[in-house]
Amino acid sequence: RVGRVIFSGIQPTGVPHLGNYLGALSNWVKLQRTAKPEDELLFSIVGWHALTLPQNPDTLAASRRDMLATLLAIGLDPKRSILFHQDHNPAHTEFAWILSCITPIGKLRRMTTWKARVAASRNANDESEVDETLLNAGLFTYPVLQAADILIYKATHVPVGEDQTQHLELCRDLAYTFNRTFAADEPLFPVPSQLNTPSRRILSLRDPTSKMSKSSPDLQSRILLTDTFPEIKSKLRAAVTDSVLGITYDPLMRPGTSNLLTILAACTDEDVHHVARRYEGKGHGHLKTDVAEAVEEMIKGPRTEFERIRQETEFLEEVAKEGGEKARERSEATMREVRERLGL
Ligand code: ADP
Ligand code: NA
Repeated sequence: RVGRVIFSGIQPTGVPHLGNYLGALSNWVKLQRTAKPEDELLFSIVGWHALTLPQNPDTLAASRRDMLATLLAIGLDPKRSILFHQDHNPAHTEFAWILSCITPIGKLRRMTTWKARVAASRNANDESEVDETLLNAGLFTYPVLQAADILIYKATHVPVGEDQTQHLELCRDLAYTFNRTFAADEPLFPVPSQLNTPSRRILSLRDPTSKMSKSSPDLQSRILLTDTFPEIKSKLRAAVTDSVLGITYDPLMRPGTSNLLTILAACTDEDVHHVARRYEGKGHGHLKTDVAEAVEEMIKGPRTEFERIRQETEFLEEVAKEGGEKARERSEATMREVRERLGL
């Protein structure tokens, strides 16, 4: 191939929040816009990964649809990028199994995501006791499935945030190991590299020491891509800042204020220090009003599109079907080669 093969995935977790959009999804749209004609782009809704946590079937079905509608609403074009559900291509799980057989469990144990799961399942009274009923095998092998997602398309570039660097490192290791073990003469898999996208960490509006996340029970802590202007304004008005006079960008000492500046700079595509200087002598109220307007300006298009596309269930099914077909087609030759090299 002459061009790059760009792959990324997102879990079907309903309507994305501002963190998902600014940290991940908006980069996909930018990539689609700046890619060369010979580049290939694949964006997957990874339903199998979602199963590592308990899911309500009706909610999951709706979230899968909503995520596809979101991808279309923000400007991903199914004629240019392959948009598909991971679970429409069984090759992901077939290859994940094969990779799991060459993955040392020590490497999986060292994954910080896994360590966080283990830590979260420790008994509050007796730290040495882990409640293993809270830990399933899928959570443990999650990065192996992720590696399979990437490799079956022979992806060369993976746009993911810094929180995914360790997973991608494992993927690269597995590509090396597979090539060395089963494809010594002619490496089958390119070793993919992380495509560094602006790593913006958007923080919770209510607790700016943690990131904006769908798992927070406080609905005021995050702005959804479907929020109306009044909702955006009210969430920002209630955003936790500080009582220091004036505005400065100081993520350590002033995380709440700095988070608002980060959001504003991301919305207007400016340098955050540059934005901060503009607000030096101004107050938080002024900043919050401007952030609300900038967020509204950025999401009003996608929001309207989302509400429209969401209703078009037949169209969505058609896009999903076509995407699935293209994805299966893309991985078929690689999987044939994989089986042959393994003696299957
Ligand atoms: P959540 O933390 O809400 O559960 P996910 O873990 O499903 O979100 O993340 C989906 C994508 O969005 C990932 O690429 C992740 O890096 C990005 N992302 C999630 N939260 C944020 C945030 N607060 N700031 C920037 N990017 C984020
Ligand atoms: Na998460």
